[in-house]
Amino acid sequence: MRYQVKTGKPTEQRTDVAIVPVYDGGKLGTAARAIDSVISGAISAVNKSADLRDGVGQTLLLTQTEGCPFDRLLLVGCGPKDEFDGRAYRKAMRAAFTALSGSNHTDAISYVSLERVAGSDAYRLARIAAETWHDTVYRFTAMKSNSKVDKPALKTLGIAVRDRKAATRARRGIAHGDAIGAGQDLTRDLGNLPANVCTPTYLVKRTRELAKNAPKLTVQVLNEAEMRKLKMGALLSVTAGTDEPAKFIVLRYRGAAAAKPPIALIGKGITFDAGGISLKPPGAMDEMKFDMSGAATVVGVMKAITQLKLKVNLVGLVPAAENLPSGKATKPGDIVTAMSGQTIEVLNTDAEGRLILSDSLTYAQRFKPAAMIDVATLTGSCVVALGKHRTGLLSNSNRLAKKLLDAGNAADDPAWQLPLDDEYQAQLKSNFADVANVGGRDAGTITAACFLSRFVDGTDWAHLDIAGTAWRGGARKGSTGRPVPLLVEFLLDQ
Ligand code: BES
Ligand code: MN
Ligand code: ZN
Repeated sequence: MRYQVKTGKPTEQRTDVAIVPVYDGGKLGTAARAIDSVISGAISAVNKSADLRDGVGQTLLLTQTEGCPFDRLLLVGCGPKDEFDGRAYRKAMRAAFTALSGSNHTDAISYVSLERVAGSDAYRLARIAAETWHDTVYRFTAMKSNSKVDKPALKTLGIAVRDRKAATRARRGIAHGDAIGAGQDLTRDLGNLPANVCTPTYLVKRTRELAKNAPKLTVQVLNEAEMRKLKMGALLSVTAGTDEPAKFIVLRYRGAAAAKPPIALIGKGITFDAGGISLKPPGAMDEMKFDMSGAATVVGVMKAITQLKLKVNLVGLVPAAENLPSGKATKPGDIVTAMSGQTIEVLNTDAEGRLILSDSLTYAQRFKPAAMIDVATLTGSCVVALGKHRTGLLSNSNRLAKKLLDAGNAADDPAWQLPLDDEYQAQLKSNFADVANVGGRDAGTITAACFLSRFVDGTDWAHLDIAGTAWRGGARKGSTGRPVPLLVEFLLDQ
């Protein structure tokens, strides 16, 4: 997609389709008013008829545009004028893009960005437009034998702004939105790929491809022999039951001075989670191909960051493995020794994410990071607690937690903090080892984070439980690409 910032008058710009806002009760947005006056009130006439209902995201294509230099007018409902905020704007843009992507028009300009949107400036509105374009037209076709379906015809998208100052901001917003969208697309592709394709080895291949086109990004991959040398006993206990070799991928992005401590992102990369000997029930087990969504998020964030050439130092760690039962698999009650030296009683082999993350957190500390953030589809309890809307956030630093919460709200990719009080640690007591890998039914998301906290020294650390937010089930089953927007927003703020 080619994005362009447009400063000219809405009545004077040539395009196939002009996207113009209308509010509930027939109130016209800025551009709609200007255009209405030169097409002899055709827009107000619509509002007087029954053609367009109130509500955010209603659309209507008008063909009567004589007097204007464009062929079509796409009216988009924006809801009540005094309630028009970033979320409503995103929804309106999604509706407009959905309508557009089903047409053969190749050029459009959005005038919705001329509206006053509570809490959003020209930067944010342009960014949302670019992000939403990616999100709306994304299709996962890699596994369809006929992949020519559904490609949108639109080639250029103009974003209207009020003046030159706003244009500068909007250009920045477009760059950011396009990078976030591209990162999210990659995350979704990796998430949606089936586990027989997207193996740990396949993740290595895709990260190497990413690094090939990004001089500031390097990839190093540890194989199982090297993990054994590092004494990553927790990670290795998870991969014990599968024939598919585990990989530990180390991504390093150097965008700032070498002396600047990096942020470490750690993504759970279980490419399939059958539960191991603590086998999962068959219902919806296919969805456990998404159990590498944390890993996919780290790769997607790296993609966005390299596209933006952001001036940050970043370490991305991807522990990648399958969790399957077999004669070689770890058994409930087995005790393994983590890289940190702590012994872990594996009471439930289905609590494998925390095992691979524990060794990854230990490994991350060798980079002396300013902060460590792990991203994981870690607990079903998080879906029970927060549903599919907010990511669970737990942290040993309220400062870091606040930054991430703020980033999530700004990016419309929200999280919610859960407590990490010491009292919960008692649930992880083991009669035989230093720690048990499960803490009973109560507060499952918190005790999982408590387990992780045992492997964090003094470093600021946050844990994002994306079990609910990383994918959708049901008819729209598929990866969401979250929380790429939250994390990129956080990194942009550094
Ligand atoms: N990958 C799952 C978590 C999960 C479950 C994510 C359902 C999304 C939907 C994780 O490895 C797991 O199995 N967790 C167990 C932990 C339990 C054994 C303490 C869970 O949540 O049931
Ligand atoms: Mn599991
Ligand atoms: Zn899992």
